[in-house]
Amino acid sequence: MNALTRQDCMTMTFRSEYPGVLFGRYVVIGEDVTIGPGTVLGNNVVVHDGSSIGCNVRIDDGVVIGKEPLRSRLSAMASDVDLEPASIGDEVLIGTHAVIYRGATVGNSVLIADLATVREQVTIGEMSIIGRGVAVENMVTIGRRCKIETGAYITAMSSIGDFCFVAPEVTFTNDNYVGRTEERFKHFKGVTMQVGSRIGANATVLPGMVIGEDALVAAGSIVTKDVPSRAIVMGSPARVIRQVPADQLLSAATPRSGGSQ
Ligand SMILES: CC(C)(COP(=O)(O)OP(=O)(O)OC[C@H]1O[C@@H](n2cnc3c(N)ncnc32)[C@H](O)[C@@H]1OP(=O)(O)O)[C@@H](O)C(=O)NCCC(=O)NCCS
Repeated sequence: MNALTRQDCMTMTFRSEYPGVLFGRYVVIGEDVTIGPGTVLGNNVVVHDGSSIGCNVRIDDGVVIGKEPLRSRLSAMASDVDLEPASIGDEVLIGTHAVIYRGATVGNSVLIADLATVREQVTIGEMSIIGRGVAVENMVTIGRRCKIETGAYITAMSSIGDFCFVAPEVTFTNDNYVGRTEERFKHFKGVTMQVGSRIGANATVLPGMVIGEDALVAAGSIVTKDVPSRAIVMGSPARVIRQVPADQLLSAATPRSGGSQ
């Protein structure tokens, strides 16, 4: 998995405190960090205090792991939670300049592509793919074997079940009051995707909506109501147009087509 060029091998080094781990140049490792053997860290990687990284992980140039959240005095969700250190499972792939915050837990064999951000209090289940430039905001749960594609925005307090698919540039929302009124703080609510549900490119999902099991949201839709299980919804506002064909249900899917058989 960690295919290295001859040039990489010539410039990488081992460190006695981390047996079997290869380090690129200018790598900064904090206090009490654990790293499993077979892991390769590229150039300019920063791993903050307490983080744990599994075996055979590939971490590309410029990645930051365990970053402390930034808090503006005006942040909508100011919180003083004591965050656990970042935890990265085995065989994980992390692309160039991805940022993974303290309080994030990344399961085995997850791929996090270049420039993605995974915020604090986020859990990602095994074998899921977080695409290039995806923003996963705080307090989000993503299940196993999900695909979140390039540029998607997963707003805070959302929950994505196993085997879900989120197409490029999909936007989740959580504040129906769009940044005004004190009232809004009581009503923040992320999006819930139930197991096997799918959302087409560039759709927008309004706060608190539930996308039912195996449902499909058509590209470009605006979801203003909960989507029933196994329904296809389309348009703005999204309306049910028909049911998902049986051969597209998760129960019919093979591993290559997004299932688990
Ligand atoms: C839901 C979906 C599968 C429907 O596709 P379809 O059944 O092949 O639909 P059709 O092409 O037969 O179109 C049926 C009608 O709906 C319209 N239509 C199709 N998709 C539409 C959409 N996303 N929004 C609005 N109208 C749409 C068509 O123009 C057509 O209208 P008409 O009857 O007046 O000509 C498709 O719209 C979709 O969203 N696919 C997902 C694409 C995607 O995001 N992939 C992600 C990975 S890149």
